[in-house]
Amino acid sequence: MYKIAVFVSGRGSNLKAILDSSQQDGNKIEVVCVVGDKIDCLAFEIAHINSIKTYSVSNVTKENYLAYSELITNLRNLKVDLIVLAGFLKKIPDELIEQFENRIINIHPALLPSFGGKGMYGINVHRAVFEKSVQVAGATIHFVDKIYDNGKIIAQECVNISDVETPEDIAERVLKIEHQILPMVIGKFSENKVVVKNNRVYLLD
Ligand code: GRF
Repeated sequence: MYKIAVFVSGRGSNLKAILDSSQQDGNKIEVVCVVGDKIDCLAFEIAHINSIKTYSVSNVTKENYLAYSELITNLRNLKVDLIVLAGFLKKIPDELIEQFENRIINIHPALLPSFGGKGMYGINVHRAVFEKSVQVAGATIHFVDKIYDNGKIIAQECVNISDVETPEDIAERVLKIEHQILPMVIGKFSENKVVVKNNRVYLLD
């Protein structure tokens, strides 16, 4: 079983897409924990319904707070193979990146390297794309390094947005793509079919 930890901050539709796809695929992927930067969020509810452990790295209350050093120990004990950031808004601390080198991926709702970086999340991204009158939008999955939205790109998928009327229209189209490519890429990792060669990332058939 390939074990993943999913980091979330809100709604959790990508978490749900991962769980649904794994179920359809004979449960070869196991979400062993969900980590959030909130005390609670909709994604935690999805985790609870599916009997998945949740950890909060929010420091709003001392009671729930889990320091990253403790989280790393838990992730190691759970034998996590891959960390998937699916809407996680906080910057990942260097110590976690160092411990899970090349084993943390993020989904970004735009075609990087455009429309990425600090502050570029959620509807902010789609507003910026809308205001530039960009005609093609999409989603990107990339490795996480110490700089926001900077790691090597693993997969991208685009969608025509020439007829959209609002940033929300863009968000809706891009989210559909996210729900397809994220489970696909996780599947490739689980089959050892993600290869970095000559500075590029290849997904093998
Ligand atoms: C997605 O658009 C993802 O690309 C971005 O945050 C959003 C999270 O959505 N990083 P959800 O919580 O998975 O529904």
